[in-house]
Amino acid sequence: MDSKALQSKQGDELHVVMFPWLAFGHMIPYLELAKLIAQSGHRVSFVSTPRNIDRLPKLPQNLASFITFVKLPLPHVSNLPENAEATTDLPYNKVQYLKLAHDLLQEPMALFLEAAAPDWVLHDFTAHWLGLIATKLGISCAFFSIFIASAVSVLNSGYQLDYRSEPEHFTVVPKWVPFHSNVAFCYFEIKKIFDCVNGDASGVSDRYRFTESIKGCDLVAVRSCFELEPEWLRLLEQLHRKPVIPVGQLATNLHDCGDDDKDERWQQMKEWLDKQASGSVVYVAFGSEAKPNQTELTESALGLEQSQLPFFWVLKMRRGPTDTEVIRLPDGFEERTKGRGIVCTSWAPQLKILSHPSIGGFLSHSGWTSVVEALHLERPLILLTFLADQGLNARFLQEKRMGYLIPRNEQDGWFTREAVAQSLRLVVVEEGGKIYRDKAKEMRGVFGDRDRQNHYVDTLVSCLKEHRRTNNEGRAPREANEIDAVVGARG
Ligand SMILES: *[C@@H]1O[C@H](CO)[C@@H](O)[C@H](O)[C@H]1NC(C)=O
Repeated sequence: MDSKALQSKQGDELHVVMFPWLAFGHMIPYLELAKLIAQSGHRVSFVSTPRNIDRLPKLPQNLASFITFVKLPLPHVSNLPENAEATTDLPYNKVQYLKLAHDLLQEPMALFLEAAAPDWVLHDFTAHWLGLIATKLGISCAFFSIFIASAVSVLNSGYQLDYRSEPEHFTVVPKWVPFHSNVAFCYFEIKKIFDCVNGDASGVSDRYRFTESIKGCDLVAVRSCFELEPEWLRLLEQLHRKPVIPVGQLATNLHDCGDDDKDERWQQMKEWLDKQASGSVVYVAFGSEAKPNQTELTESALGLEQSQLPFFWVLKMRRGPTDTEVIRLPDGFEERTKGRGIVCTSWAPQLKILSHPSIGGFLSHSGWTSVVEALHLERPLILLTFLADQGLNARFLQEKRMGYLIPRNEQDGWFTREAVAQSLRLVVVEEGGKIYRDKAKEMRGVFGDRDRQNHYVDTLVSCLKEHRRTNNEGRAPREANEIDAVVGARG
């Protein structure tokens, strides 16, 4: 057991419930934070649906007894394909039904909280109804944002009037940002997601979910740090008049990744990577959600080919078994790039690949978990956005010279293979792109410093201790098996 865990006195111990949105880009950072809270000797109940919990990475042995997984069965809704429990299982236009099913977890969640009587519940932007439930039960409630403070501040006005009603309004920095910045969507980015930002079949817009989640909480925890975006963290606090606690970047520890060294698939990948020159290979991956359309796939592929650089491409060809939109690589692409590049359409250990010395750059969708993984391993970023907050992340990174965006048409997102090839060469090999390589090295301290990370989590834990609601005291939490009986769940 961790020595820190032993120091925590009985009675001083917190019980924290965590409830992330049903997307791996959310569950993974929630789990990282859960591990860090557990490491300081506190108990965590991590709530999700059965198939999601079964797909999470294994816990390190020393923390397993501090973290309980609570499986709430996902309620059935029509139009939601069977067995789809996370966004990665679904075509983009079906995610709204997943939100609908998620909202039906309200009742089982309330029953669970009542039975478990935790000190705190940390929830995501989707569970806009949780603040009210927690208040009723006398449980303290935090909104934990896996979006960095700049994205949250640009998306939500807080006490200011949000005057934006058209996609165009989102392509400029909102008026409540008092300092100079370029963090805004491109037209094609906001156009693509405007339906869910503004309202979809779940009946509740993402904007409303966000606003209510922040309004209903006692404090806002953010995956961020003062070294990265001090001005945005301050703004977030001013906009919402709530304590804002950065919790660090939550990089996954390479040693926690399990013993893939015995995995044959990884062995083959490693063998290939070992043969490449140091810092020469482009790693390409667009995350667990984004699937390029046919034009995007073709131009990316031909751009990679034209760049002449070796590459390792982890490519998602479909979103779940119900996805009917088939995409394919350009004719002859694989033969022409044989030996120089690898396309992997199944599982791949991203962190292990990125940590390999042959990797010289990461062509990424700009999802924050990938950004953290790249920068804590000093890999410079080339960015191509697809969905959600990715555009905001990309503008932020560009502004800070921490990533290079592939030039595109602002209106429809069109880009050329030449732009892909030039961007890759610039960042990975050319003298002109040295600034991106240097910046990636410089950021290692911000993204990968374990002491700094632990310090942020210590601060969070102190806050949680200090501000837990006292009317909860004296009510003994029920035993785990009793809780199972109440919510029909098995941990
Ligand atoms: C595919 O994406 C590109 C660039 O993002 C865009 O210009 C194009 O219109 C899209 N094609 C379809 C069929 O949606």
